[in-house]
Amino acid sequence: MSNYHIKHLEEYYQVYRKSVRNPEVFWEEIAEEHFVWRKRWNKVLDWDFSKPEIKWFEGAKLNITENCIDRHLRTKGDKTAILFEPNDPSEAAEHITYNQLYKRVNQFANVLKEQGIKKGDRVCIYLPMIPELAISVLACARIGAIHSVVFAGFSATALATRINDCDCKIVLTSDGSYRGAKTIDLKGIVDTALEQCPGVKTTLVAKRINSDISMKEGRDKWLQPLLDAASTECAPEIMDAEDPLFILYTSGSTGKPKGMVHTTGGYMVYTAYTFKNVFQYKENDIYWCTADIGWITGHSYIVYGPLANGATTVMFEGVPTYPDWGRFWEIVEKHKINQFYTAPTAIRALAKEKLDFVDKYDLSSLKVLGTVGEPINEEAWHWYNDNIGKKKSPIVDTWWQTETGGIMITPIPFATPTKPTYATLPFPGIQPALMDENGQEIKGNQVDGRLCIKFPWPAIARTIWGNHKRYRETYFSTFKNQYFTGDGALRDEVGYYRITGRVDDVIIVSGHNLGTAPIEDAINEHQAVAESAIVGFPHDIKGNALYGYVILKETGEGRDHDNLRKEINQIITERIGAIAKLDKIQFTNGLPKTRSGKIMRRILRKIACKDTGNLGDTSTLLNPEVVQEIMDNVL
Ligand code: WTA
Repeated sequence: MSNYHIKHLEEYYQVYRKSVRNPEVFWEEIAEEHFVWRKRWNKVLDWDFSKPEIKWFEGAKLNITENCIDRHLRTKGDKTAILFEPNDPSEAAEHITYNQLYKRVNQFANVLKEQGIKKGDRVCIYLPMIPELAISVLACARIGAIHSVVFAGFSATALATRINDCDCKIVLTSDGSYRGAKTIDLKGIVDTALEQCPGVKTTLVAKRINSDISMKEGRDKWLQPLLDAASTECAPEIMDAEDPLFILYTSGSTGKPKGMVHTTGGYMVYTAYTFKNVFQYKENDIYWCTADIGWITGHSYIVYGPLANGATTVMFEGVPTYPDWGRFWEIVEKHKINQFYTAPTAIRALAKEKLDFVDKYDLSSLKVLGTVGEPINEEAWHWYNDNIGKKKSPIVDTWWQTETGGIMITPIPFATPTKPTYATLPFPGIQPALMDENGQEIKGNQVDGRLCIKFPWPAIARTIWGNHKRYRETYFSTFKNQYFTGDGALRDEVGYYRITGRVDDVIIVSGHNLGTAPIEDAINEHQAVAESAIVGFPHDIKGNALYGYVILKETGEGRDHDNLRKEINQIITERIGAIAKLDKIQFTNGLPKTRSGKIMRRILRKIACKDTGNLGDTSTLLNPEVVQEIMDNVL
């Protein structure tokens, strides 16, 4: 018997040891006992990090929606699969049972087929957090189409880049979305994006806000009438374990966003197994992850992981601040949430408000609290533990990435003793390594280094869409035979890991990964800008905020700097999205550069963080004099 459900620390260590000693047997047992396969694999694992090539369950055939929906119908057809909580608390929540989900996914799948979508085609999904989003994701998986969900906060330009990068034929969207007291014209954003996307022949439009939008003849179709006319039966496309399931874009430190490709079999096994253990999900629990399905957390832990376990998963359309700061806790009370999974940035924002917003509500249903997306600081951890968990619900600080597909380092609640700011121990099957700058592994405890993983796990992304070379260079070339995460970490005296943050040019703002290069490119498009450099600096709610150093083409006293700042942020909003706006913009005459012309971000980062005690050796700079000028004018 595989240890699908780990219940105490000894058991964790046993399972972990087995997973390392004999990974193939370990994963084979889990795959065999807990999932429905149409055909068994020939080989559990084939891998070579130098190519890199990773294959799990090769030769196996399956459809992930059979595992997430069909197989639950006999025993829990009337159980709520998706519990939709709307933006407006006075609008009724919607309970979508497994039976209903089955029908709605099949109808949607049939609509996609009618629109000519086939196995392997890419489908762009640009939808708010309404049931159609989860349903369309599953509908793609039903017919073997590859979904590419784009977070509906991205701008038209960012959307167009993502549509074109993987040649999507169709875009699924809505007339608009609710965001607290505001509405957003999503269809308008899609219309602008599609001016640059000749490959898109069709858009299907869900009605959400009933706004008066324009529909382009021959291209735009209302979704609902098509769904109503479609059959509720759609045979699942039988997929190879290694067929792509989805593409999800994540920021790189340079260049355009990376379309991480996840495949079917391994991703399913890993997300389901982690979900079960990390949240200790039990049959009648109500589980809520506050993420958006536009991010990996939503893919793995709102849709696939929970549904593969036959769970009830909550989808929340709104924001934590509407109608007031008590909204999360109102929902916890209303739906008797048992597991609650959110981001440190949300916790920090909520912790700044009066405790009345928390104390008004009964939170006694909570059993497990989770966090993800960035390091959680000690203060936020304690606030969460004291006020939300009342010191009785363990906090799982889960470290993972878009690229890893599922949770990698995490406590197992009720088994692993937690420690504030520590993600603690590797999940079974995960073999972390800390590396030094010379590429050697640092053994032993009480050490820190660059975090790598030395052995494949089933949910690792297999490539970057259309650019395998970049995949190799980004993740497998810094350290030989290691997957490099881009994060730094330390290991304490008992082997617990604490993630210390990015060691590359990715900055995490409110839990969103932002690459510096695309933001700098956007700024440089402003006609008055000659050059720019972005760094992160600590922010008490967002974790990090962005600080821009900008060189203008012509300086001169007459410049209206405040207006320029607004214009620069406007361009960033148009090119990337409001999440990438700069908090501070300092105009400068120069940027510190090495003799080879590389900007020394390390120095700029220290200045922005007001940590100028030890700037390191600046004498090798091409222009050491600018450092003083920048320090004198720091904001
Ligand atoms: C960071 C999110 C510290 C980390 C699932 C990682 C974390 C990046 C944690 C991936 C955590 C995520 N503690 N840092 N618990 N979780 N990170 O791709 O820097 O959006 O590399 O995936 O977020 O972000 P992504």
